[in-house]
Amino acid sequence: MTPPLFEIRDLHAATVEGGIEILRGVNLTVHAGEVHALMGPNGSGKSTLANVLLGSPEYEVTSGSIHFRGEDITEWPADVRGTAGMFLAFQYPQEIPGVSVINFLRQALSARKGIDLSVLELRLAIMEWMERLEMDPSFGERYLNEGFSGGEKKRNEILQMAILEPDMAILDETDSGLDIDALRVVATGVQEVRKDRTEMGVLAITHYQRLLDELQPDHVHVLIDGKIVESGDMQLAVDLEHNGYERFGV
Ligand SMILES: Nc1ncnc2c1ncn2[C@@H]1O[C@H](COP(=O)(O)OP(=O)(O)O)[C@@H](O)[C@H]1O
Ligand SMILES: [Mg+2]
Repeated sequence: MTPPLFEIRDLHAATVEGGIEILRGVNLTVHAGEVHALMGPNGSGKSTLANVLLGSPEYEVTSGSIHFRGEDITEWPADVRGTAGMFLAFQYPQEIPGVSVINFLRQALSARKGIDLSVLELRLAIMEWMERLEMDPSFGERYLNEGFSGGEKKRNEILQMAILEPDMAILDETDSGLDIDALRVVATGVQEVRKDRTEMGVLAITHYQRLLDELQPDHVHVLIDGKIVESGDMQLAVDLEHNGYERFGV
């Protein structure tokens, strides 16, 4: 039997400094082609989960495990996770002085695939994606994240996802104050990439109902106090929008 694409099993994690337990038994399974959304009130552990999935040294997995295509990746470093086909939007540096969007993508792609696309091939691929994502062609020459607006950062992340062709994409929408335009970039970007990569799994961590309206996830999960307390479909997200997290004792 083929193992699930991505699986989190009874994951417990604590801060390295001070040993504060934040994740207290997270279980989540993403099959190929599925879009999952993880929601939850502030402080419930969403960003911590994203960071642990990324392999951040700030947190220690104290028990449980993370699996990708059947392999236990709990101890894998972030770059190896990337090479294997996991995309974590924010695993890339915030700003790299003097490196253009295009050049950064070249480096990231050769790390991911172990091949060097010619400059021309890559340029064509990037141009095509920029058009699909409705991005200005001059964007490729900009220096990475230098003076990027929130919306441009999101476009850049989605462009990276499109070019790197991951099997599992994990998107964290922690930034407060993402405007509607930026949310739409994420949603349409994910949908465009999924048209080509129907087997790609997506885990979108968000507290934006609006993003979910556009993303239409197959499964919605609620994280409270480091645990998934309820899972459902889009209706769950709609309920949360109307009634908040009160019924979970928050
Ligand atoms: N490195 C850390 N050191 C101490 N406390 C932390 C650390 N990271 C997260 N926390 C705490 O863990 C809880 C969950 O945080 P976080 O994962 O950022 O929640 P969310 O993203 O759902 O708002 C919060 O109470 C936060 O203060
Ligand atoms: Mg957060």
